[in-house]
Parts: sequence; C-alpha cells; structure tokens
Amino acid sequence: MSDNKKSPLVKILRVGLAGLGNVGAGTFKILEQNAKLIEQRTGTRIVVTAVCARNKTKDRGIDLSKVTWVETPESLIDLPDVDVIVEVMGGEGDPALSLVRGTLQKGKAVVTANKALLAYHGMELAELSAQNNAPLFYEAAVAGGIPIIKMLREGLAANRISGLYGIMNGTCNYILTTMEKTGRDFADVLNDAQNLGYAEADPTLDVGGGDSGHKLVLLSALSYGCQPDFQNLSVEGIDRLSADDIVIAGEFGARIKLIGQAVKLDDGRILQMVSPCLVPKTSPLAHVDDALNGILMHGDFVGPSFVEGRGAGEGPTASAIVADLMDLACLRTCGAIRPVFGAEPHDLKAAPSASRDDWTGEFYMRLVVHDRPGVIAEISPVLRDHKISIESLIQRGRSEDQPVNIVITTHETTGASLRQASEKIELLPNVLAAPLVLPILKI
Ligand code: NDP
Ligand code: HSE
Repeated sequence: MSDNKKSPLVKILRVGLAGLGNVGAGTFKILEQNAKLIEQRTGTRIVVTAVCARNKTKDRGIDLSKVTWVETPESLIDLPDVDVIVEVMGGEGDPALSLVRGTLQKGKAVVTANKALLAYHGMELAELSAQNNAPLFYEAAVAGGIPIIKMLREGLAANRISGLYGIMNGTCNYILTTMEKTGRDFADVLNDAQNLGYAEADPTLDVGGGDSGHKLVLLSALSYGCQPDFQNLSVEGIDRLSADDIVIAGEFGARIKLIGQAVKLDDGRILQMVSPCLVPKTSPLAHVDDALNGILMHGDFVGPSFVEGRGAGEGPTASAIVADLMDLACLRTCGAIRPVFGAEPHDLKAAPSASRDDWTGEFYMRLVVHDRPGVIAEISPVLRDHKISIESLIQRGRSEDQPVNIVITTHETTGASLRQASEKIELLPNVLAAPLVLPILKI
C-alpha cells in the first residue's frame, strides 16, 4: 500500500492547513515524516495541498515549495483540491471562526486544536456539523498527548461520569513544578514555557486559568451531555500563588496544582470550576509534573480512570491533529460520523450550573498581615460568623516591619462561606491583601 503506483486503491485526503506555527508546522512534519505509516494504517495518502499564515517569508523549517500559498484563510474553503481544513491559527473570533463556520457550511470537514473557539462557539459549530454532515474533530484541543476526547466520546461512553478532575494546562504545571523544584520565580519560568512553545499567544490565558476553562467546558459537554458554555465557569489562575504557598502545601502533605473540575452534584447541577487546589500527595494527579497533563475521571461502571501524557507543544498537539485526519480518512472509507459532543445537538441540555460558591470541602487560606498583637482576634470572629471552623493555623516569620503570612486550613465548609468571609477579612486594618483561598481536594 505504500506506493500509489502499485496500489490503485490508495485514496488521497487533501489538507488545507491554516496556521503554520508550532502546531501547524508540526502537523506538516508528521505528515511528511510518517507518510508511509499513515498510508499503511488508513489506506489513504494524507497530503497538505494548500497553506495559509500571516508571514510568507518566515522560515518554518518545512518545505512549502509544493503547496499552494493562499493569502487569506477563508480562501482555503473553496479550493477544489482541499477536502479538509486544519485550523491551527488560534483565537475564538475571526479568522478562525469564519473559516470553521464557512468550511462546515460547505459540508467539508474541519480538524482544529482551537479550544477557545469551541468553548465560545461549540454549540453553533456542532449544529453546523450536524446540519451539513461535516465532521468537526478536535482531539488536539485538550491534552493532545492523551486521547481524552476519544476516551470520553467512545471508550467510556457507556458510563455515567460523576466527576472529572484535570491538570489541563502544561504551561501552568510547568511553572508550578519548576518553581517547586528550583525556587525560580514565576516570570522567569513563564518565559521558558513560552520559548518551549507551550504557552498561548496571550499567556494570560494560561496563567489566568482561561485556557484550562476552555478545555474543561469541552470535557464537561462530553461527560454530561450538556451544552459547552464558557460563561458557566468559575475560573481562577495561578498568578497569585507564591513560593511560600507551595512550601506550606508540602507540609500539609499536598502539592498545589491548577485543577479543572467538572463534578455532578447531588441535586443534578454540574459544578465547573478552575482553581489552584491542594492535591494530596496520595493522588496520582499530585505526581503529574512539568508540562504533562493528567485527567482523573469516575464512571459508574468503570470506576476511577486516570490518564497522563504531554498536553502542550508541537509534537503531542500535532500528533492529535494527524490522528484526527487519520480517523477522517477511515470515516470516508467506511462510516458515519459521531456527533461533535457525543450526542446530537438537540439532545444537549443547557447544564443547570453550580458555581465555586457551591464547592463543599476543606480550604487553605493565606493571609498577608501586619505582625501585630490582636490580628488573629480580628480574623477569628469573621470566621465564626460564617460558621467556618479552623483546622490549623500557621504563622511564618516574625517581623514588626515586614508583612507576614498566616495560613489557615479549615474544616469542611462551602465556597460561599469562604468568599463572604474573605471579602470581610480583606477590609480588616491589619490585613494587607485579599486572602488567597484554595480548595483542598480529597481525590
Ligand atoms: P502559533 O502562534 O505558534 O501559530 C499560529 C499560526 O497561525 C501562525 O503560523 C500564524 O502565522 C497563523 N495566523 C495567526 N493569525 C492569522 C491570520 N489572521 N491569518 C493567517 N494566519 C494566521 O500558535 P500554536 O501553533 O501554538 O497554536 C495554534 C492553535 O493550537 C491555537 O488554537 C492553540 O490554542 C492550539 N493549541 C496549541 C498548543 C501548543 O502547545 N502550542 C497545544 C494545544 C492547542 P505566522 O506564523 O505567519 O505569524
Ligand atoms: N497553552 C496550552 C498549555 C497549550 O500550556 O497547556 C496546550 O493546550
């Protein structure tokens, strides 16, 4: 099957590639370097026939001499020698949105890594996919090195999922683990993550938790059959964490991880939240290091299921894009497509949502205070008034001139109580900043 002349049955899938950055150039390289393997496994030769990026003269380490260069992404849609568009430009708006919309409207397939686009416009695009019988694949959008979309949509499809917890942002995990191992500071490590191709074009999406949120809504839709809806999410990033938090969490037998969680509450609502959390060292998620991603799910029949792999960077992301292209090649030969979010769009319900206020459990609270007599006496009535019981209290350092950290861990309470108490504590005269509040997970 490896030579088209010997096998007249070999089909061709022609790709229009929009975006030639980390992921686009990586996709091009895999399709070239593993061309024979891909053809053997699918009976289809997958070739890039046309490309688009902003800068035509940039050296991308790939040979573009045999492909058509078009000036605007949308020009790819109507090219007769393009069967599928791979959208790897990024951004929730145009040109990615109009390219994906226009391609699906024409009944052509789309493969994308663009989680922001799907988090904001997933419902509309799922409907266009269904109406036009045009596949929309997005394995690369969440944890590229882990086939998590396939796992939820196919492998675990027989289960009711009750909880999903994920480390879904390689940049943040890289920052947190590197800070912990080396004591280097936040900005310096973020710079490394950008150079390694992990970070988004706008890295505030990574460190502010937005990127994890984009991915979480897609996994929630697949897990719970609900409409992907980014507005339904509580999102907090890692930008307020200090090296002290990491050290103190260690003393509590935990590590701090940016966790996206989608949990079905007893009343049927879905709690979707991204937040740095204390994760017990006994949990597999606590040992997901560097730029790796990890996802822990609970299904009613399968029980707990944990997967780990590289979720950022050229190789794993492009690998997922090409896997989608290979699925598409097989689909063209033999079958029907699965709906974008696992169920037909009209069956996806608006999720009755819960917020961070509804999260129940123990919390870590760090306060930055003047080290003066009576500070604890100011704080404890506020906690008492909100029925928050203290499990432990630590003060680090002793200084009349410098602010000091007080860390409180609580017994079980609600996110709402902690939020309301924090708002009051922040106003106390000896408290110098808004308290940092992190849920302590028991997973
Ligand atoms: P890059 O910034 O490296 O690449 C973006 C590419 O899109 C560039 O080639 C750029 O052109 C092109 N582009 C941007 N805007 C336009 C435009 N208006 N018209 C034409 N071309 C345009 O991003 P990545 O490759 O890192 O990411 C691409 C997508 O993949 C994003 O959606 C991202 O969220 C997603 N993703 C990325 C991962 C990663 O680890 N990097 C992992 C998972 C998903 P030019 O090169 O000329 O500037
Ligand atoms: N910026 C993202 C991350 C890329 O760091 O995980 C992968 O989606």
